[in-house]
Amino acid sequence: MQLFRMRLILALMASVTLVSVASTYFDVLAHRHVLREDLERRTKWMGISVQPDVQNALRAGDPNAVRGLSQLLKSGTGALGLAIYDARGNLMAASGPPEVIANLARGVVARSLQRGIEVAAFGHKAEWQWLEESFPIHQGNDLQGAIAIVADASYIRTESNELWRRSFWRIVALVILIVGITLGMVRWFFLRPLSRVAERMRRLRTGHAERTGEPDVPELAMFTPLAREMQTMAESLKAARAAAAAEARLREAGENLWTAERLAVHMRTRGGSSKIFVVSNREPYMHMRQGRETVCVVPPSGLVTALEPVLRACDGVWVASGSGDADAAIVDEFDRLRVPPDEPRYTLRRVWLSEEEEARYYDGFANEGLWPLCHIAHTRPIFRAADWECYKRVNQRFADALLEEMQDSAEPVVFAQDYHLALLPQMVKRARPDARVAIFWHIPWPNPEAFGICPWQAELIDGLLGADLIGFHIPLHCNNFLATVDRSVESCTSREHMTVLRNGHVTSVRPYPVSVAIDGRTQLLTEFDRAKAQEERRADRQKLLEEFGARAECLAIGVDRMDYTKGIVERLDAFEQLLEDHPWHRERLTMVQVAAPSRTRIPSYVELRKRVDATAERINSRFQTARWKPVVLIERQLNHDEVRRWYRAADICLVTSLHDGMNLVAKEFVAARNDEDGVLVLSRFTGAAVELGDALLVNPYDIVGVAEAIHAGLEMSPHERRERMQRMRRQVIEQNIYMWAARVMGDLRELRLEPSEPTAISRAKQRTTRRTGIRIEKLA
Ligand code: F6P
Repeated sequence: MQLFRMRLILALMASVTLVSVASTYFDVLAHRHVLREDLERRTKWMGISVQPDVQNALRAGDPNAVRGLSQLLKSGTGALGLAIYDARGNLMAASGPPEVIANLARGVVARSLQRGIEVAAFGHKAEWQWLEESFPIHQGNDLQGAIAIVADASYIRTESNELWRRSFWRIVALVILIVGITLGMVRWFFLRPLSRVAERMRRLRTGHAERTGEPDVPELAMFTPLAREMQTMAESLKAARAAAAAEARLREAGENLWTAERLAVHMRTRGGSSKIFVVSNREPYMHMRQGRETVCVVPPSGLVTALEPVLRACDGVWVASGSGDADAAIVDEFDRLRVPPDEPRYTLRRVWLSEEEEARYYDGFANEGLWPLCHIAHTRPIFRAADWECYKRVNQRFADALLEEMQDSAEPVVFAQDYHLALLPQMVKRARPDARVAIFWHIPWPNPEAFGICPWQAELIDGLLGADLIGFHIPLHCNNFLATVDRSVESCTSREHMTVLRNGHVTSVRPYPVSVAIDGRTQLLTEFDRAKAQEERRADRQKLLEEFGARAECLAIGVDRMDYTKGIVERLDAFEQLLEDHPWHRERLTMVQVAAPSRTRIPSYVELRKRVDATAERINSRFQTARWKPVVLIERQLNHDEVRRWYRAADICLVTSLHDGMNLVAKEFVAARNDEDGVLVLSRFTGAAVELGDALLVNPYDIVGVAEAIHAGLEMSPHERRERMQRMRRQVIEQNIYMWAARVMGDLRELRLEPSEPTAISRAKQRTTRRTGIRIEKLA
């Protein structure tokens, strides 16, 4: 550090001195030039003014008169000296200091006589400096002689020296000032922040870094990239430390939980060289324009919540539709980018859809057709032939992008997602029989009668059966699917082995209840931990509510996309019923409903939004008082941290879907409650209800029943709340998202793929088993 400082000081001194000396040198030159010009002008005027007298004296030809004149003129003009020459250049008379007169340059007079013009030159001797200027003297056309005027020029040197002297002190002051200021700035802007960075690194290294939010070194704002890197590194280190600690705890407790690290190792060791390819309609990261900035947004999607941790753990490629308005500007020339933006772990390949495709494939067939078809929520599905045609085309587009990504991968593993891509498994499998293809259906599969109203059910089933493995959340959906296959296409289904044989290809059908990522801490909290967490929760709840102009002792929370399957209106109705039936909760309990806008071009969603707004307004206008607001509606998407804050602040979470494949909000709420408190009211028509038996299970259509469940939840003893929450947490911790991924991927890898061309045997079997109900194991 000392050496660096010395070098810096010396370098600064040398450069400031050099610059200042050069600048002074040019100043002095310019000043001398001005002084010389001035002297030359004055000397010239002197010469011109004395010429007539000299002319007369020379014409008279009297040497004494010439000598006398020279004396006279010298004192009259104030010149340093004066010399008069005849026409041949011989000195006739001179006056002035002898050293100067003796050293006048003869050449000046000679040239002036020779050319008949004035000639000037500077001369010096000892301390004298002068300007001599010779003027020829004519009588008519005859040259009579010359007069040399000698002007004192010593003051030019004196003034130049004075200028150098003054500049010297200025340079010294400048060097001291600049070195001082620079050292101060280096210390303030670099050394101080950097030593804080070093301190923070040290704390990280020793595991004592508490905060990982904003950089705690504000000066580092000028080193934005470094600060960002540092932040990411801090978070990675913290995560690695937490993961290692969790692993150690699990080992210590003899637990066998799935973690991101374990999943990554599992995929690497079991997966061999096979690479993972996920394909879904919804992308995990959208880039959006906000004013002049581009922000990266994680969309509100259960699918994204579930798959993001898996991709982070395993790397691979995720193919999805680019739906952000700045998405196209962020990708490379192959439409790819590495994500998450802060800490790239896997590749996102974006597929571009036109507005018409969005309208027909996504809004139309997927969300006005399949979505209400599969959710029994009493919204009638709409099937249009043009939407179906577009759905097929877009599925092919996704398949093509996927095949392009997979072209250099041998025996790739494909994990397709959801009802948007029902045809893709068959398309991919046909082109790449060596690929292991799974599709996960994130929504319910209804009974065959309900599904049977879809005009293209056979094609959809065939598309899905192209997969080697089809996953649903719960066994009921698997059974409904097998029953639908039985009714709609010629195949062999086995309920025992959960398989379908069609066209020589076997597809396994299995339940995999999807879940969330959660800290693997399972040990019980101490009373102290719990009291502290509750204290924090109360304080944060007040802060959160105040932002919306509300105050309440108790908080009920609902977090959903604005979707008619989520039962938001029914939930608000139940809340109103509660306030009617149990007035005690008035001015005490506020319900916060987060409803992220979703599928906003579809009429049924527009209609739903109006109904939700009207219901909330109705309740507020009925019950609101000066100090209490019953319902707070937040109609925007919140990020993960914001949602987690609401989960943690709530006394009760209401998940009252009319029908739901799984519903990850229920599990996210449980995952967020590390204080082991809070009550979950859960619709029995969700997949989550199968696992979370300790929630208060309700029928969302039963308004009074839901109101009573909320009341019971708020009245529940702390002991019971804790016991229920502990059991639910254990369930979610054990059956976490890493386990889900490990099970799906494990099963997919263990499946035996048939040869790419159907064998004669399998074709024969196919011909003889064109009936439902014949078990596949009899054929094997
Ligand atoms: O439940 C099915 C699903 O695909 C979930 O992943 C998600 O909650 C929701 O639908 C997302 O819908 P969208 O992609 O249309 O916003």
